[in-house]
Amino acid sequence: MDVISVIRTKRDRGRLTDEQIDWVIDAYTRGEVADEQMSALAMAILLNGMDRAEIARWTAAMIASGERMDFASLPRPTADKHSTGGVGDKITLPLAPLVAACGAAVPQLSGRGLGHTGGTLDKLESIPGWRALLSNDEMMGVLRDVGAVICAAGDGLAPADKKLYALRDVTGTVEAIPLIASSIMSKKIAEGTGSLVLDVKVGSGAFMKNLDDARELASTMVGLGTDHGVRTVALLTGMSTPLGLTAGNALEVRESVEVLAGGGPADVVELTLALAREMLDAAGLKDADPEKALRDGSAMDHWRRMIAAQGGDPDAPLPVARERHVVTASATGVLTGLDAYAVGVAAWRLGAGRARKEDPVQAGAGVELHAKPGDQVTAGEPLMTLHTDTPERFAYAIEALEGGVTIEPAGTAYEAAPIVLERIA
Ligand code: URA
Repeated sequence: MDVISVIRTKRDRGRLTDEQIDWVIDAYTRGEVADEQMSALAMAILLNGMDRAEIARWTAAMIASGERMDFASLPRPTADKHSTGGVGDKITLPLAPLVAACGAAVPQLSGRGLGHTGGTLDKLESIPGWRALLSNDEMMGVLRDVGAVICAAGDGLAPADKKLYALRDVTGTVEAIPLIASSIMSKKIAEGTGSLVLDVKVGSGAFMKNLDDARELASTMVGLGTDHGVRTVALLTGMSTPLGLTAGNALEVRESVEVLAGGGPADVVELTLALAREMLDAAGLKDADPEKALRDGSAMDHWRRMIAAQGGDPDAPLPVARERHVVTASATGVLTGLDAYAVGVAAWRLGAGRARKEDPVQAGAGVELHAKPGDQVTAGEPLMTLHTDTPERFAYAIEALEGGVTIEPAGTAYEAAPIVLERIA
């Protein structure tokens, strides 16, 4: 087998054979196929696509590149959730302990943020003492004792994807449906969850900007999961405006704790409950009542135990950025648009995200919204507060917000789009 013929096949719109796929993934993982050759192949896939059978084989080869975890020894059914990434998407934080409180085991292997979308591990690392890196034994221990664990995927899980994802990130080849679907599903299938709920984000702040692409991604992933024996459901959810009122690490932890305490913004609560119901249903726990678990404090109790089990202090004050800047409304009227991408880039520029994998993030940085689309706003009154430790970033963040805020005359009708747009099973 030679890599140039594999690249040429896809470049010329051909179909890769099973043997070509198995070989190229294995040879790339071992370092025999060079990064520049794999980037050429990734670009050919982005431009010319892969059919369902090719995607299935590609995913299987990435799973086979590493270890597979097994939760069969746990006394509870396992349920996991994966979001394709958005702005202010802190849902994993309240969701994992909530679903554990309702009787499922939630093995949540999460990632760090890159670009304008935040990462769950970065958010949790703003809690003093909390550790993202656990051994497989430690992970099983937290899962057994608490019922939920959120941690980094170990190096042994789908190593082909780790290498390929880092390469795609720097070669403009992230946004290919076959590559996104196989990347996400190889990790989830190797992780060994029994059921999986996918939150496929649609809109300006998401990878998928329109419903058709989101549908195709969702149905590809549902097909891959189902074929590997994982009960998989996808919700397509809106990401045209940020979720909740915060985008940034410690800011989002604070908002998540508000949800666990029975409060928090309505959209975050609605999506958390919708995903919890899907996860519990997929895990066979149809009688569980996640609303009650939020009300009666049992979800909060699981959160506190989960954080403490990973070295975190759930009572420690969260870091606060050294500097703030208030952005005011430029007119009086109805806020009809608050663009998720603009807010995500502003939070990122303030220091909440990173430009390169090895960059540090600021725990306190980010954007706090004082109004959401549909609210009345008054000229000169606060619209959002920007937080950072490095005030020289304010101007750059404000630039990102230009054109991202739409205010129309008072009385303009505004109809909010539903959060859950479609369900694909
Ligand atoms: N998340 C992943 O894990 N992989 C992708 O390709 C995109 C989002």
